[in-house]
Amino acid sequence: MNYTLVIHSMLRWAVLIFGVWAVLSAIGAVISKRDYRNSDNKSSLFFMISCDLQLLLGLILYFTGMWFEKVKTDMGAVMKDPAERYFAVEHALMMIIAWLLVHVGRSMVKRADTDAQKHKRTLIYFGIALLLILLMIPWPFRPVGIARQLFPQF
Ligand code: HEM
Repeated sequence: MNYTLVIHSMLRWAVLIFGVWAVLSAIGAVISKRDYRNSDNKSSLFFMISCDLQLLLGLILYFTGMWFEKVKTDMGAVMKDPAERYFAVEHALMMIIAWLLVHVGRSMVKRADTDAQKHKRTLIYFGIALLLILLMIPWPFRPVGIARQLFPQF
């Protein structure tokens, strides 16, 4: 069993829970115009840490598995096969962009002058990152070859 893949698969739920928590509380905060609290910093920090771990595991899967090998040997063939292209290019690239948005977002929030601005920046950066993550997860309803289970099978 590939334990890195099992952890990568499970950890998606942590990423989603912390991401939804951060984005929903930012929506609530923008509407109610409330202060930026310690809990806002916590949800955003947990979202970032879970994304960092996911990136690390993803990179391990990518470079120790067959995906990088395939890209090195025949990129043309990879690009022609939708399932191979998905994991070798699209999933990795878009998730790295989402990860970047989370990091840039957190530093933009730190640099914001007002609490209202902090909430708005959280909403925009984390909102787009969460959307990208949701779109790029290989959900069971995706085409055969891309689709993966909701939970790892033991
Ligand atoms: C928030 C970020 C990410 C999430 C939520 C995520 C989620 C997932 C999920 C749910 C799977 C399917 C696991 C399974 O088979 O059950 C998967 C597979 C995979 N992910 Fe990610 N991923 C993320 C980031 C990344 C990154 C940044 C990379 C690479 C740079 C990456 C590389 C891979 C690879 C190579 C697989 C393939 C697996 C295989 O060989 O079957 N992931 N990812």
